[in-house]
Amino acid sequence: MKKFITRLLLVLSIALPVASIASEEVSLEKANIDLRNQQSLQRGAKYFVNYCMGCHSLSMSRYNRVATDLGLTPEQVQKNLIFTRTDGELSKVGELMKNGMTPKYGNEAFGNAPPDLSLEGRLRGADWIYSFLKAFYKDPTRPLGVNNTVFANVGMPHVLWELQGMQELQHAEAAEGEHAAANAHAEPKLVLATPGKISLAEYDRVVLDITNFLVYVSEPGKLHRQAVGIWVVLFLLVFIVVAYFLKKEYWKDVH
Ligand code: HEC
Repeated sequence: MKKFITRLLLVLSIALPVASIASEEVSLEKANIDLRNQQSLQRGAKYFVNYCMGCHSLSMSRYNRVATDLGLTPEQVQKNLIFTRTDGELSKVGELMKNGMTPKYGNEAFGNAPPDLSLEGRLRGADWIYSFLKAFYKDPTRPLGVNNTVFANVGMPHVLWELQGMQELQHAEAAEGEHAAANAHAEPKLVLATPGKISLAEYDRVVLDITNFLVYVSEPGKLHRQAVGIWVVLFLLVFIVVAYFLKKEYWKDVH
């Protein structure tokens, strides 16, 4: 037992600092997404097919499943969400949400092929996606002229720049005297150098809707699962009572 406790302490003393370093790497903003908000999901889907799907597919989703979950009719989907083509024809509502970009072309154009985002919501989480989409800034040293504070040296262009505008990374001024030391540790800040078409608050909402949609897509059955889960737990609670009396009945003659 003593040996076990010593080992446990050893493992913890190594694991805890590692975990805290990992979580300190970038500070993420909290994304207050709401999977029950169908309007936000509908807007998110629309932004996604307009701004992202040229490069990123959602190859585990079908248009008609998304339509049902988001409360859209197949006609609305065909008209508003489908811009991709299969064999020259516009995709049909029963098809997977794939695009025409091959990994080879993606690699040549961007260095890294744009990944499929079907599971991105589970891989990175809402806060990461939300913060990532808000963290592009101008960096002339990069091939596409932008960089990202959440995903350093990212190969993706700032596709929403028209909406958000362009940010710049401002390093703390090198101050003299007693504040110099404090300033040296101050984090560089993102500031909006060129405003976009919409205000920052509106941009936050656009990004939140896209994040909400990506989190929904990564687990379309989540709301249903949670709703069923409540009934399962209630059933189990009732069943405990039944099982208890059953046990009493069975064991009453055993001494
Ligand atoms: C012009 C092509 C292009 C468009 C349009 C585009 N992306 Fe990307 N995206 C990329 C590439 C390329 C990468 C891979 C970057 C890398 O690995 O360096 C990427 C990476 C990402 C990642 C990170 C994936 C990871 O590694 O976990 C996310 C999230 C993402 N994109 C979301 C979006 C969203 C949301 C939109 C629409 C608003 C969008 N992208 C539009 C090209 C694009």
